[in-house]
Amino acid sequence: MGVLHKLLSASLVMLSAWSADVPAQAWPTRPISLVVPFAAGGPTDVVARTLAASMSKTLGQTVIVENKVGAGGTIAAAFVAKAAPDGYTLFIHHNGMATSTALYRKLPYDALADFEYIGQAVDVPMTLLARKDFPANNLTELIAYVRANQDKINLANAGLGAVSQLCGLMFERALGVKFTAIPFQGTAPAMQALLGGQVDLLCDQTTQTIPQIKAGSVKFYGVTTRNRIKALPEAPTLAEQGLKDFEVLVWHGIYAPRGTPRPVLASLNAALRTALKDPDVTRRMAELGAEVVPESKQSPEGLQTWLKSEIDKWGPVIKAAGAFAD
Ligand code: MLT
Repeated sequence: MGVLHKLLSASLVMLSAWSADVPAQAWPTRPISLVVPFAAGGPTDVVARTLAASMSKTLGQTVIVENKVGAGGTIAAAFVAKAAPDGYTLFIHHNGMATSTALYRKLPYDALADFEYIGQAVDVPMTLLARKDFPANNLTELIAYVRANQDKINLANAGLGAVSQLCGLMFERALGVKFTAIPFQGTAPAMQALLGGQVDLLCDQTTQTIPQIKAGSVKFYGVTTRNRIKALPEAPTLAEQGLKDFEVLVWHGIYAPRGTPRPVLASLNAALRTALKDPDVTRRMAELGAEVVPESKQSPEGLQTWLKSEIDKWGPVIKAAGAFAD
């Protein structure tokens, strides 16, 4: 009996050690899906595809980008929150992960409780643009023009929860004006509408706008960062042109559904950190004005702390602005 008991205990110990190691050994055996909450070809998609290509090399499996659009990113967040926590579904999102918690009265997920944190990736400046034939040629002219014609002007965005919406809202509040909002499922289609002259204004990330600014296919009024950026050194900030304290920086985090095994999360974090040092990634990001975040933010704890602080920061601002949806 004693011998049998010992044998049984030994097998149980071996079995539990094996189970704990299984995810790390057996995963990934098939492609991993990285869910992007906005349209293909747009700023979030560009960051996601650049990271996915590098992470695929490290993980030995393809990381496939899957665009799940709608409701300012909240449809994708709800999808990932309910996905199997098996390491085959990941999520990339930006500031909208925090702002949506205040913008929507009811969300079918809890941004803090329903996800595992993998790490932050890059920060991206925004730019304020108009269609090429818009009457204002610089920020001073733009401010005068929109104050006189606000009821005739529309502003494209990617819905409530998108940073284009947040940036537009901040611009309206800074000037005390209100435009007609035209929502798209991402700023990729919003940019097409701007290029086609169907919408007037768009506030969007450099990861999409730098090629258009350099080609001169849009009117460009400045960057939304505190300081000028390396990728557009001649471009003034909106703040230095008189919109004091106007600052929007877009941060990106990578998440997994709550309950994803720890060894899998550790491997994903390692693959993310490797990607953020990959010269193909750093070169592409620098060309598009994006900056890799410091190592402390690349950790799961760094992302979790940051998300919490962003929820605390934006909640009161959004409530004061009164911009809500059900
Ligand atoms: C996108 O990827 O289309 C943008 O990040 C949407 C947005 O403005 O937030």
